[in-house]
Parts: sequence; structure tokens; C-alpha cells
Amino acid sequence: MNKQGPDALRKAVERMLAEANTRMQAGKTVDAARSYKKAAQFAEQAIELIDDSEEKRAMTLRVAEYKQRSRSLETTGRADLDRVKPSEMPADEIVYSDEDSDLQEQQILLLIDDTPRKIEWNNIGGLAELKEELKFHYGLAMAKSPEGMDVEGWQNIMFYGPPGTGKTLLACAIANKLNATFFNVKASQIVSKWVGESGKLISTLYRLARKFTNDGRPSIIFIDEFDALCKSRGMEGHLYHQQMLAAILSEIDGFANKGKRNLVMTIGATNRPWDLDTAVLSRFERRILISLPDEAARADIFRIHLEGRGLAVDHRSLSYEKLARLSERLTGREVARLCKEVTSRMLAEMNPDIPKLVDDSLRSIQSYEIKVRPLRHVDFTPYINDLSPDTSLSDLKNYDEWGVKVKESIS
Ligand SMILES: Nc1ncnc2c1ncn2[C@@H]1O[C@H](COP(=O)(O)OP(=O)(O)O)[C@@H](O)[C@H]1O
Ligand SMILES: [Mg+2]
Repeated sequence: MNKQGPDALRKAVERMLAEANTRMQAGKTVDAARSYKKAAQFAEQAIELIDDSEEKRAMTLRVAEYKQRSRSLETTGRADLDRVKPSEMPADEIVYSDEDSDLQEQQILLLIDDTPRKIEWNNIGGLAELKEELKFHYGLAMAKSPEGMDVEGWQNIMFYGPPGTGKTLLACAIANKLNATFFNVKASQIVSKWVGESGKLISTLYRLARKFTNDGRPSIIFIDEFDALCKSRGMEGHLYHQQMLAAILSEIDGFANKGKRNLVMTIGATNRPWDLDTAVLSRFERRILISLPDEAARADIFRIHLEGRGLAVDHRSLSYEKLARLSERLTGREVARLCKEVTSRMLAEMNPDIPKLVDDSLRSIQSYEIKVRPLRHVDFTPYINDLSPDTSLSDLKNYDEWGVKVKESIS
């Protein structure tokens, strides 16, 4: 049913176990039983995707173990925490009520993404003012309001602009700084995967996101490619998109959660803002253009993707300012790609023997230490001379004009 990799499923298993643990400690054995049941379901899904036979076997044992715990919690109120021995694996599978809601929750839990933990503000080049603004307004949303006053920070914002300019990175950095649970939703994926139950899944998404805020940590729902929800593809598709969109908008409006302090924040992102209608746009307090990096920002981005990644640079020949000057109109993603190509060419040049060592034996390649040398300006020359930026001048104009137009129509 899902296209998640085994890693996401392994994490989901761990999450369910942690939940079971908390519930056990709170004496909520029936709830804990459900968590174990879910852990078993995730583990079962993982088995199908795991290649390694040893791990497959271990996971099979874990499935049996969690089912046993769940069953004994349900029947005796006590967990049987002994490990199941292979010979005692129950031949008869326990049949559990595969409630719809359980399945839905599983799908939602798989959206939780831990990558933000690795993204810091200084991994993002340029955008200095915007970073400060984001910190300020999300800070307001998190801080205590003075008695009798209702200070509102940013709850819902929409990033728009050319692809590859750092929209996802910014959402990750915010989530990281706020220690938020990050639900990473790609609109184009959910509309195709959640056909038919889309509206219900969205409310489950927000319900779980709210649940995760019980410990005071916010939840961020990042909806990438938001425009995919606003386009109609055939009559039937149209209906589902509309259901999903309507569900998201009513969640953003907060009807479902009126009165309570809302720690669930929605960040939308799109490369095609003109596909969004005013009903959608008016729900987002701010629409923020993330445009191409300017020269200073590009210099910053080169540094992040070279020295920031531990690569040595020969400063006598290579200057970030010069590279930035020569790479006009490149996005952050293109700069990152350029750095990667130059690096891999240097690695190929310095380590011509690797293919032969691989042929020789595992041991010889494992004992080989990779050689590197500092990068010089000439390493970049062939690429710099042959740039064709992804973003055209007319694209840029479109974003600017749209920004002006929308400001006039929504105030
Ligand atoms: N401002 C930036 N600073 C550093 N790297 C960037 C920047 N913008 C883009 N990148 C690089 O490009 C990749 C894609 O960026 P992303 O945030 O996903 O773009 P978007 O969401 O706007 O399409 C990032 O993983 C990063 O390697
Ligand atoms: Mg992105």
C-alpha cells in the first residue's frame, strides 16, 4: 500500500514502541496494546521490503513478540515481556480488527520526517533578513502572551518561487529550531495515493499533529507542491482534490480546534503560485517569495557546499566571490550540483585505482584510503563556461508580477 522505504518503517516501529512504553507507564494497558499492535503491523510491512535475510528473520521475531505483548495486555492487562523463541512462534496469526483509523494513522505517521534535525540556519546561504523575520514571527507564536492580550505569530505561511531556492530547507530549519514534529507532505503524492479518503486523511493528519503537541512541542505540516491540490485533472480527480483542499483550509482556519492554543503550523510551498486561488491564498498570513540567490548569497552557497562539507579549497586560486560573479542566475540547487560535479571529478582524478581494487577483493578496497586535494578555480572553469540556468528571465518576471498582483487583490 505504501511506497515508504524500510527505514521509514523501522522508525515507525520504534515510534510505536516508545508510545507503547509511555502508555504502559501511565497504566493505560489497552492503549499500549494498540501501540504494540501497530508496531507489529509496521514491522510486517518492513519485512516485505528488507533484503537482508538475517534482518528479515529478526524482524519476523519482533512481529511475533509485539503481537504476543499486545494479546497478553488485552487479555490479562499485563505485558508478557519475554522474548519469543523461534520454536514458539505462533502458527496461528492473531486476527485483529484492522480498523480504518489505525491504517490511516499508520499512513500519517509515515509522513513524519527526521531530516530537519540536520538542517541549521547556517546551512542555508543568503536570505539573512528572511531568516530573522521567520525567527521573530515563529518566536512570537511560541512565546507567552501578556495577560489579556492575544499576540499572534505566524501560523500559516506559503513559500513561493523558482524550484531549488531553499524553500524546503527553510521549512526544515524552522522545524529544527522549534524542535517541531515535521510532517512532510508532498501534495502530488497524496492526491494520487489517498484517492477517495483524502478528506478524512487530512483531518487525521491534523488530529495527529495536534496530538503530538501535547508535550508542548509544535508540529509543522509542510505541504510541498501545494499547487497540485488546486489543479483539476479530470472530473473524478477534481472532486478528490477539492475534498482535500477543503479539508486543509478548514483545518487551517482552525474550526476543528477553536479556542485552544494552536501549536500546529502549516507551511506551504509552490513553484506555481498562479495556480492557487484567492480562497487558498487568503488563508496564509504571509506569502513569501524565495527568489534566486544574489551574488553574495551565491558566494555563501558555494562555501556551504565546499568547505561546509569538509572539502579543502586552495584560496590562492579559488575565490567564492569570483565563482559567484560567474554563476549568475543559478539557484542554490544548481550551485550545489556544480560543487558536486567538480568534487567527483577531483575524486576520480586522485583515485584512478579504485575500480581495480574493487576487482581485487573486498579487503583491498576497504583498506584503501581515499585521496583528495584542495580544489582550485580551474576545476570549475569547464562547468562555469557552460552554464545554462534552470530559471529563465521570464520565469523571474512571472514570480514578481504575480507577487504584486496578489498583494493588490488580498489585503
Ligand atoms: N539557499 C541555499 N543554501 C544552500 N543550499 C541550497 C540553497 N537553496 C538550495 N540549496 C540546495 O538545493 C537543494 C534543494 O533545495 P530546496 O530547499 O529543496 O529547494 P526548493 O524547496 O526551493 O525547491 C538543497 O538540498 C540544497 O542542497
Ligand atoms: Mg523543495
